[in-house]
Amino acid sequence: NPYLVSCSAPVNIAVIKYWGKRDEDLILPINSSLSVTLHQDQLKTTTTVAVSRLFKEDRLWLNGKEEDITHPRLQSCLREIRRLARKRRNDGNPDSAGLSHKVHICSVNNFPTAAGLASSAAGFACLVYSLAQAFGVEGDLSGIARQGSGSACRSMYGGFVEWKMGSREDGKDSVAQQVEPESHWPELRILVLVASAKRKPIGSTSGMQTSVQTSLLLKHRAESVVPRRMDEMTEAIRRKDFPAFAELTMKDSNQFHASCLDTYPPIFYLSSVSQQVIHLVHRYNRHYGETRVAYSFDAGPNAVIFTSQQHVPEFVQVVQHFFPPDANGEDFIKGLPVTDAV
Ligand code: DP6
Repeated sequence: NPYLVSCSAPVNIAVIKYWGKRDEDLILPINSSLSVTLHQDQLKTTTTVAVSRLFKEDRLWLNGKEEDITHPRLQSCLREIRRLARKRRNDGNPDSAGLSHKVHICSVNNFPTAAGLASSAAGFACLVYSLAQAFGVEGDLSGIARQGSGSACRSMYGGFVEWKMGSREDGKDSVAQQVEPESHWPELRILVLVASAKRKPIGSTSGMQTSVQTSLLLKHRAESVVPRRMDEMTEAIRRKDFPAFAELTMKDSNQFHASCLDTYPPIFYLSSVSQQVIHLVHRYNRHYGETRVAYSFDAGPNAVIFTSQQHVPEFVQVVQHFFPPDANGEDFIKGLPVTDAV
């Protein structure tokens, strides 16, 4: 009988963005980043790993379709987990599954893949965690998840999570760390406004590669802006200072997209709908004379909205007024509220 393990991992949304690598193979970033992990069950990946001596080869299915297991990043994760498992066994610890046994991996998202909703983050976090469970590996696994997809290392923890860029060439100090647990800021809410569920035209991996090669703004951002912003953001979160948190979040999203425009040839992830959401948020905040709502956009046009619980009903009404459900009855706002407590 195969040995079975099943896990879920949630998506994380960066409020200080990761964009650019200093090492493509190990996936080492040019700046640190900070994110909020969504509540389990909202936007998540569920992965089941089966280990059996009867399997002839490692195999992988994503959302029901078989995918190429020889993908280098997938191979890095598998290799690293098996290496740790071997080490553990040599230390005299029994492991849960045979080391020479092959794995079958099934992974399912409950949201659109590659629409800029950080599906690779939840996917690799989940893969690494389930493999670790199957092979009886423990400890910080964020360095392994990072080698699957950079942002995945932050989904290994809940709440508010920092990915320290590190300085070592071998990447051993480029790991994720919890800044505050999910219980720290219970009033905080995250809404996702789905402007398009289509695949993004330029993936993050190749997009950030071109940005590193061509954008001086990105270089300036990584060297001079993000280090200070990381401290300010950590402090804003610690104090639960929503206006400070919101302003930093919006400015960082804007600078990331400005760096995309500064890339040559330029990259556009925001659509006219994204732009309308940006204006709406600023008008809404101006109306109240205080920052009640913030937006953030990753490598796609979908808006992630941060606000506090008390403002959710009204802001949702405002969004529904300006973006009524389309002809297919599809609502612009998905899965509301996305999180009870981050
Ligand atoms: C815009 O982690 O998907 O979402 O490391 O090449 O897999 P790779 O890139 P990925 O990039 C995420 C970029 C971002 C910002 C962020 O999540 O920090």
